[in-house]
Amino acid sequence: MATHRDFLAITDFSTEELIALLDRARRLKSGDDKSKLTGKSLAMIFRKSSTRTRVSFEVAMTQLGGHAIFLSDRDSQIGRGETVSDTAEVLSRYVDGITIRTFAHAEVEELAEHASVPVVNALTDLLHPCQVIADLQTVAEAFGSDHSARKVAWIGDGNNMANSWINAAFRLGFELRLACPAGYDPDPTVVARAQKTGRVLLTRDPAEAAEGADVVTTDVWASMGQEEEMAVRARAFAGYVVDDALMKRADRKAIFLHCLPAHRGEEVMASVIDGPQSRIFDEAENRMHAQKAILLDLMG
Ligand code: CP
Ligand code: NVA
Repeated sequence: MATHRDFLAITDFSTEELIALLDRARRLKSGDDKSKLTGKSLAMIFRKSSTRTRVSFEVAMTQLGGHAIFLSDRDSQIGRGETVSDTAEVLSRYVDGITIRTFAHAEVEELAEHASVPVVNALTDLLHPCQVIADLQTVAEAFGSDHSARKVAWIGDGNNMANSWINAAFRLGFELRLACPAGYDPDPTVVARAQKTGRVLLTRDPAEAAEGADVVTTDVWASMGQEEEMAVRARAFAGYVVDDALMKRADRKAIFLHCLPAHRGEEVMASVIDGPQSRIFDEAENRMHAQKAILLDLMG
């Protein structure tokens, strides 16, 4: 019954659509694309914390001439147990699009199934597609728009960010080497699909992943919802720190990315994240430009 278009995963867009989306994000940032969503409203369900995603979506809607409504579990009925399907039906009567950040990816799929307006995944335990679109925009700013020529190294947890990078490599054909400790591999279904391209490699060795890379990227060792595992994870991830020695393995012109928030001295040393190769604040800014492109594609 859903006839609208959603953005739940990077793979919801074809290769050509992704390239066009990234180009649009670039033109929105430069001011060459002045498209608007005048009078449109976006409901933003947040069942986990957020700084960047919430603010970048909200400001994006304002700048596009629309409006965003923040709904947290604390003060909306979904937080008191109203069903996802009823929430989807009701919000669809008011707004032109819905973003949701939650735990189970299946909840976002359920919301999209019952909504009659576009649904955008603002992070689940499985995927964080909007972040990786912004990351790809940041990579293009450093190296140009031929993504297939890039080598990307993922160091650390095989989490929602890692899975979305794998989906991006699947669609755009770049080389992606992921170094994750045993027990913390990315989602096997996501990996299996992408490995058909032959350019997604899993290793236990961060040095092997980083060797000659254009982009070195990582994320926290314990994601939202895994806070109580932090001590166990800190032991498992001890050898997976992005430090100056690891950056030296990468290409001389390599950039460092991190979706943020970061823990300096854990997954990344301060000398790297605050150093000359780091692009973390351009990356954070690009969330807004990338999401404008997504919102315009879906709601325009
Ligand atoms: N990177 C990211 O999604 O940040 P927030 O959790 O602050 O939204
Ligand atoms: N992997 C992190 C990303 C935060 C933006 C988490 O899910 O908490």
